[in-house]
Amino acid sequence: MSDNNAHNFHERIEKSIFFMLCLVVVVASIGGMIEIIPLFKKEIAIERVEGMRPYTPLELAGFDIYKREGCYNCHSQQIRPLRDEVERYGHYSLAAESMYDHPFAWGSKRTGPDLSRVGGKYSSDWHIQHLYNPRSVVPESIMPGYPFMLYAKLDTSEICQNMKILRMLGVPYTDDDLAKCDSDIDTQLGINKNEDDIAAFKKRYSKVTIEKFNNKSTEITDMDALIAYLQGLGNKVDLQTNRGRDW
Ligand code: HEC
Repeated sequence: MSDNNAHNFHERIEKSIFFMLCLVVVVASIGGMIEIIPLFKKEIAIERVEGMRPYTPLELAGFDIYKREGCYNCHSQQIRPLRDEVERYGHYSLAAESMYDHPFAWGSKRTGPDLSRVGGKYSSDWHIQHLYNPRSVVPESIMPGYPFMLYAKLDTSEICQNMKILRMLGVPYTDDDLAKCDSDIDTQLGINKNEDDIAAFKKRYSKVTIEKFNNKSTEITDMDALIAYLQGLGNKVDLQTNRGRDW
């Protein structure tokens, strides 16, 4: 192309807004694709850390209640690597800690505190009291109470199906996990006292709490599932050995 031709070509582009716009979109999207597409591969975006495991069936039911009740509207689950957050809530969140959440519950607003490391912070009795009537333990609280959860029977009919769907999305539930999806609920609540079942359950789900979380009811309730979920938040990964990237 001679200098003159190149000049004409350039002039044509600059004089046609539409043509120019098309080329701008093409150029910008190539840049965007190079940045974004590699991140679709989880292996690149998420650093693997030891100890991270999928939810137990009971915790998974609790996570569903957390979403059903909209807890994420007031609570975030993402601690940023900033000094004030780390001092208040603990070690900043690692990407791997929410890699099995579908959808994730990072939240975008903190009317209440961040919950991503609340597991083990309080006793389950405290959680029962707090969820039943937040003002009975934190007088200035504006959190709504959820007294019905104390006696609402947990709907377990869809848990196994949910686990199968999650497996299709890449959550590494084993055949054994799926086969025991119902009985694992009784095992985690300490209702099933068979030693072999308990040992196998603990082997499949590391650092799991076995407890009748809601000791106010002998039934399996929403409260059991929600507290099982809360008590497992943020304490699965050993953060001393898995520091992730240093900031
Ligand atoms: C209207 C906003 C709001 C909603 C909805 C809400 N919370 Fe809260 N939550 C708060 C506030 C404010 C606090 C701080 C005062 C207190 O401890 O009650 C809090 C505190 C907490 C705490 C104690 C955290 C800590 O580290 O001390 C937990 C656990 C908790 N909420 C769980 C839940 C769960 C589970 C749900 C859904 C069932 C929920 N919250 C729904 C506002 C909310």
